[in-house]
Amino acid sequence: MEGERLEDDRARFLIRYAGGFAPFVVARAEGAWIETTEGRRILDFTSGQICSTLGHNHPRIAAAVERALEEVVHLNSWMLSEPVLALAERLAALFPPPLEKVVLLNTGSEANEVALKLAKMHTGRFELVGLTRSFHGLLAGIASVNFSMAHAGYGPLLPGAFAVPAPYAYRCPVRHCDGACDCTCLEVGFELLDEQSVGSLCAFVAEPVLSAGGIIVPPDGYFGRARELCDERGMLLVLDEAQTGFGRLGMMFGFEHDGVVPDLVAVSKTLGGGFPLAATITSGAIEEDCVRKGFLHVTSHVSDPLPAAAGLAVLDVIEEEGLVGQARQRGDYLLGRLRELQTEHEQVGDVQCLRRGLSMNIVRAGSSANCFRMAPPLTISEEEIDLGIEILDASLRAVLARRPAVATSRSAT
Ligand SMILES: Cc1ncc(COP(=O)(O)O)c(C=O)c1O
Repeated sequence: MEGERLEDDRARFLIRYAGGFAPFVVARAEGAWIETTEGRRILDFTSGQICSTLGHNHPRIAAAVERALEEVVHLNSWMLSEPVLALAERLAALFPPPLEKVVLLNTGSEANEVALKLAKMHTGRFELVGLTRSFHGLLAGIASVNFSMAHAGYGPLLPGAFAVPAPYAYRCPVRHCDGACDCTCLEVGFELLDEQSVGSLCAFVAEPVLSAGGIIVPPDGYFGRARELCDERGMLLVLDEAQTGFGRLGMMFGFEHDGVVPDLVAVSKTLGGGFPLAATITSGAIEEDCVRKGFLHVTSHVSDPLPAAAGLAVLDVIEEEGLVGQARQRGDYLLGRLRELQTEHEQVGDVQCLRRGLSMNIVRAGSSANCFRMAPPLTISEEEIDLGIEILDASLRAVLARRPAVATSRSAT
């Protein structure tokens, strides 16, 4: 929390990979709650790093992992186990044809990286396109198509990485729309792309809802049009469902919204329920072609049984407890409560909810960090939502009492 320091001196042995650390140490976590070593309970509206969508330490995941600890945790990469075979089959059944081939990996960056490797090998091209304000991971390759952060200071990006303006109607990047995007940004973006390309356009990668660069929801039909623009150029469409996959949007996958079938999908965060599990999914034809050309992605933890066992438990719980429908219902409830707050607090500046026991992300939707990201577990109760809203309300009141006139920065960005 800004202004408060972590007292635990042992943190001096850690590289500060994200600037700093939370001003407490966590002792345990359960459901939507984390508890610090000092006994403070904090309502977690971020599901950890947006992974624990069943809530922290879900008993079904714990049981699956305990079983894996007794049976098999890790294997040589060319050996397969029951949980891996079962999870691949379950995932393949969740995706529409022709998506039917799965590789089980560990992180979202890796799943995107593998998707782009497959796209390059299949098309024989190398130019990659992402959206401004996008985030797909921080490894060197995939970071080239992150346009929300983390370029400065790390040297050259991959040659042939291009950005298309994000469909951000509230601050229209091409100064055309106001409040409702009509996809002009997409058309303009592809026009620019055609003029800059050296004739090797390979793939367009996007999040179904942009997250880290501000919560940006593309308009209806956006991905349908993107699909057409890709097809016209022989490009592949890659969707990064790290945050949107497995129920977060009230549907199993974000791409279902437009009824578009991508060529490659990367899933991660929400699949492992807190365990490092990710997957890239593609068609039989792309897999066949890449294998014929010598596709290689052997890592230490590819196809590991333990995280696969956790992933199977996640899918079981989502299905058995109807969490996709529940996410839609709780999402509507949360939105309703937020709209009530909106009528009372028109402008919002810095809000220190953490001090009051609520953990949320603030993300950058312009030149400053100015957008709350709430991603509570899909299992959250209405009472917990009410409590979160109460804390947010109290924090807003406290801030606005201190600073009655907080300026918004819409036009500046
Ligand atoms: C949309 C999206 N893609 C990819 C990633 C990268 O995933 P990981 O941190 O597991 O590498 C993230 C992480 O926040 C993300 O939000």
